[in-house]
Amino acid sequence: MELFKEAEDYLRTCDITPVTEDDMGESDLLQDVFSEETDWVSHSPLQTEPREPSTPISDSPDELLQKRMVVLKGLLTSEEIYLTELETLLMPMKALKASAGTSQPVLSTEQVQTVFYQVPELRDLHKDFYTSLKTRLNNDTGSDQGQRTENGGEMQFFQGHLRLPVGDLFLKFVNQLGVYRGFIDNYENALRIVQKGMQSDQRFRTLAESMMSSKGSDNVKTKYTFEALLYKPLDRVMKTTLVLHELWNHTPPDHQDSVSLQEALRLSSSFLSGVNERSQCKRAVMLSKGERRQLMRDGFVVDVCESGYSLRHLFLYTDLLLCVKLISAGRQAHYRFCWYLPLVGLKLHWASEHQPSSECQIKISKTRAKMYQLKQALQQNMKGGRGSFSWAVERLKRKLEDCELWLLTNTPSFTLDLHSSSGKSHTIRLYSLYELDKWKEAIEIQSGKSIETVPPDLLSVTSSCIKLRMTQQPPLHCVQPNGSAHMCGSIYVMVHSAFGLKHPSSAYVCLEVDGFEFYDRRKQTCLSAFTVTPVWDEELVFQVDGAQQLFLVFVSQSESDSEDNILGRAVLQLSSDNMLKKWKKLTCSLAEIEVTLSIKYLPHPLEPPSSTPLIPEPVFCVQIGQVAKQEGVLVPHIVRSCVEEVDRRGLNEEGIYRVSGVSREIQDLKQAFNTNYREAVSKLRSVDINAVSGTLKLYFRELPLPLIPSDHFQALSAALDIADPCVKANHLLALLQALPDVNRNTFLFLLHHLRRVAERQETNKMPLSNLATVFGPSLLRPPVDRVDISQEVEVQVQVINHYLQCQNLPEALLTKPLDIDELTTTDTALYIDITSSKGLISANLTRRLFVMAVAELVAKCLQAREMAYCPYSNFPVGAAILTTGGAIITGCNVENASYGLTVCAERTAIQRAVAEGYRRFTAIAVTCDINDSFVGPCGACRQVLMEFGTEWDVYLTKPDGSYKKTSLRELLPLAFTPAHLEKN
Ligand code: THU
Repeated sequence: MELFKEAEDYLRTCDITPVTEDDMGESDLLQDVFSEETDWVSHSPLQTEPREPSTPISDSPDELLQKRMVVLKGLLTSEEIYLTELETLLMPMKALKASAGTSQPVLSTEQVQTVFYQVPELRDLHKDFYTSLKTRLNNDTGSDQGQRTENGGEMQFFQGHLRLPVGDLFLKFVNQLGVYRGFIDNYENALRIVQKGMQSDQRFRTLAESMMSSKGSDNVKTKYTFEALLYKPLDRVMKTTLVLHELWNHTPPDHQDSVSLQEALRLSSSFLSGVNERSQCKRAVMLSKGERRQLMRDGFVVDVCESGYSLRHLFLYTDLLLCVKLISAGRQAHYRFCWYLPLVGLKLHWASEHQPSSECQIKISKTRAKMYQLKQALQQNMKGGRGSFSWAVERLKRKLEDCELWLLTNTPSFTLDLHSSSGKSHTIRLYSLYELDKWKEAIEIQSGKSIETVPPDLLSVTSSCIKLRMTQQPPLHCVQPNGSAHMCGSIYVMVHSAFGLKHPSSAYVCLEVDGFEFYDRRKQTCLSAFTVTPVWDEELVFQVDGAQQLFLVFVSQSESDSEDNILGRAVLQLSSDNMLKKWKKLTCSLAEIEVTLSIKYLPHPLEPPSSTPLIPEPVFCVQIGQVAKQEGVLVPHIVRSCVEEVDRRGLNEEGIYRVSGVSREIQDLKQAFNTNYREAVSKLRSVDINAVSGTLKLYFRELPLPLIPSDHFQALSAALDIADPCVKANHLLALLQALPDVNRNTFLFLLHHLRRVAERQETNKMPLSNLATVFGPSLLRPPVDRVDISQEVEVQVQVINHYLQCQNLPEALLTKPLDIDELTTTDTALYIDITSSKGLISANLTRRLFVMAVAELVAKCLQAREMAYCPYSNFPVGAAILTTGGAIITGCNVENASYGLTVCAERTAIQRAVAEGYRRFTAIAVTCDINDSFVGPCGACRQVLMEFGTEWDVYLTKPDGSYKKTSLRELLPLAFTPAHLEKN
């Protein structure tokens, strides 16, 4: 498809000479490759360039501005039509998707995905652009005047209105043109499916023919063919350059849009020529296995070499990785070759970088503080209306950009070592773990295909980069216009737990946000205990300015090697519109791993960042409330990690809390907990278990104020003297409840652990009394003025002993209970990024053990229905049961030639569950293939469910995944249950 050529022809028919990269002269470009270099940093991508001499500016500035307004109005109208066309194109998607899940699909799920590939994204992109342009035009012209112009063609704008800036909107828009690339690459496949459907499937034809839309102001219904609609985006992307050209031509050189429109024009024509070049390039180099050399991915990375760090552009082709340096920017940009590595046999290794030197840390903090000031100054300057084009503003922007570039190159990050089979190696640094994983995955996929590298013609590969590149700028925030949903304030993320690990391991979740980097952009949870179901319940807080996305990466360490392995990643789209002050809980899929988290956003003005780096706070010898507050938890991590480790491998150890560990090892762990938490948890896994228990005891002993505050000592001591055991127990429990939150929950957490220890007293010889003796004196200390030591020890031990034996000891909360909003299915769509395969919602928040996703239960019952054996009724039914422990057991109906022997789906599931040892359930989801109503289980099944408890949630599910929640009590009131038999 010669898109660019078509666009050129189109331009010529409109008497416009197209601006193409060729105008720059191909030969110049080639000659330039090894010419004198200038550094990227000093040349902003948004640099002002001399206006093309060919630009016709014969009109007076006023006339020019009026025409410009006409162009904008015209564009708005055509955008509106285009949006309707995209909506029309999307209309049959839902029906096709629903049908894909049935036994007689019109198209398979994969085909549906191909046909509509990137269409919703295009719609969103244009909707955003259209709305912002419309708002801008309406606000500034006043709706009355705007109306008159459209109808009567009168041009009665004030000078100020005519100068209305829109360049930022266009720049934002063309920066996202990449979405079109996916659409274009996929277009032919999509078309093929549509054409085939039209020929061979009546149902498809009916759907396609029902595509109608209202067009224009006359409200006449227009019919489109599917094919014609599918072509619209191609048409549109070509016209974009055209419109931009028009607009730029009608923008006076001193208009503040001049620079941004020119840049937008450059980006969009470079995009178009890239599309064209790519199809040519495919033809250019044939590799082994009949593949052509294509660009798979490109972006900015930091190249690590002897002389230091430098920003480079990295290109991943089918068979090789090419690192180049951008020489100057703007229209004369070109690349200079740095190095390349063949992909065959390429080995990758990644690691997070160590703490930078304190000198570097100070510089980072200073730069952040400076950026913050620059941004404040910039905002001040911009407030003065037209002042936004002043030199002062330009200078501030340039400085801000320099700072951000410096941070991008110098903040601690992740390194990726690339070792080729020929012995050549290179190291690159990436500012984000999420980015690193994307690169790593892309490179691994390509190198896995082991396509022999045809020695490249370095000159031409390098020079073609400029046209092929998909990324135009390093990921700087100062050059991106503020979106409408500009977020400024704190984002709180509570990372709860994860499912889906195949083997026990220690894991952590790394979170990254984008936006201005005044504060830390990356945070991670602690390393979890060694398990398949890690629980962190850890709150991470980000101060953000302009953040739009939250990146999640799941990393695990297996026991054998302490290597970090990335198991999955996802992105959440952040938006101030749907994130309010209330917590929202959701589950995201990071490949195989499902991570449950809660998130909330508090908008507020930001405090200036500190210009000195934050030194990690110690944990030992610090008040427990302070440590917990800093960690955003109710039970500090040191306590949790040690307890989890003893639970894992110390319960059968004789004298686990009596035998002391080697003092050096304990001091070592203490030191590690104080300085580098991750290292500490890694150490915990391998040291002698008595060193772990010793560290826990030491922690409590060294608390500056005891876990049970001294001012409670008297009251506890008095409570012990109460004669009536019942009154005494109640009183002691009330005293426990009165402890501060962190102290109480940590104490409860420890008590439950010690009870687990005592359960194994046969082997570990640690009965409760013994544990009380060990822990009493460090947990409870008398006020200083008490003197009678013998009596004190007795009180300390007795109090702990009493609580250890307490019948109704409350559970510990690890984190503050959240004020959570349940998400509905539609809400989630706002959160979950298209790149993460599926987004699941956790709904039943009362179940503390495992917060299972109802959506998963629903999804599983839909899957189970596919297994139905129903040759007689042709009525497939699926069921999925959730056990109290979080397992899901499914069932389908199984029919029989002797009809009465048929077993329903719900009963199949119950029988399976019981046979596998489950008897306690909390929910069931059922589905059949009736689309238009929610269908409940039959009466017999209701009775069978009742056998296993009266408190079932029942999710009646439609084939499209929507569900209605009801309960078994509601479905079977006044039921007969096993309890009635007991009464006899
Ligand atoms: N069926 C179920 O599996 N569950 C119900 O609750 C109602 C009916 C199945 C049994 C049979 O295979 C088919 O639906 C038609 O009755």
